This record gives sequence, C-alpha cells and structure tokens, in this order.
Amino acid sequence: MVELTLPQNSRMVTGRTWPKPAGGNVRAFRVYRYDPDETGNPRIDTYFVDLDSCGPMVLDALIKIKNEIDPTLTFRRSCREGICGSCAMNIDGTNTLACIKGMDEIDGDVKIYPLPHMPVVKDLVADLTHFY
Ligand code: FES
Repeated sequence: MVELTLPQNSRMVTGRTWPKPAGGNVRAFRVYRYDPDETGNPRIDTYFVDLDSCGPMVLDALIKIKNEIDPTLTFRRSCREGICGSCAMNIDGTNTLACIKGMDEIDGDVKIYPLPHMPVVKDLVADLTHFY
C-alpha cells in the first residue's frame, strides 16, 4: 500500500477564533483560510454568526462574516440562486453551492473548505483554469 504524506507547508493549522457575539442563536463556522502572499500554513479560522440577523443559506453567513467580521475572507459568488456555480465549495464534507445549501441541513459547526483536488488561489477560491 502506498503511504502518502502531505508536505509540511500544506498541513492545516488552527487559526484565529473570532469573538463570539452575545445571544443564544449563534453558530460556529470553521473556515479554511490560505493567503499565498503569507508564508504560513493554511489555517482554519473560527467565526461565530448570530443566525437571528442572518439569512438561511451558508452563503448568507459567509457574506455576513465578510461584511461584519473579517473583510479579508475571500470567496466567489454571483447569482445567489444556484445557477452560475461560482459559489461552489466544500461544505460539511460535500461539494455543493453555498447559495442553495441551507444551514438547517448541517448539524453542529459549519465546516467550509475550497473545492478539493484543485490549487487554491486564496481562501475558498479554487483555481478553475483547467476545470472547463
Ligand atoms: S452564487 Fe451562483 S450558484 Fe451560487
């Protein structure tokens, strides 16, 4: 059997945990972060989103995180109705579209990664050059 080992610089590390807002309807989002301009390993940042002031889809939460918590979070999105495919990412272990993936379909923390098996441009943006 072949044994594979990831290079040291591709192993994910625990990243920043952002402040948790007060309130009872708060959900944790564990989001893959990678910036090619930084020298560190990819990391998993933890954000907390108040669901009472957020739309029902995972993309709504990502937009809220970017607008209100961390403007450096990078992802693609366009139509917000499941047509263009630009918000494709890996959510809770499944490749899907963030704009049509309801948060109520996910148990526990919401884990978000870029599409697998593709180079990562930054954060949740995969390089789709060879995809089409
Ligand atoms: S934003 Fe177009 S499919 Fe999600």
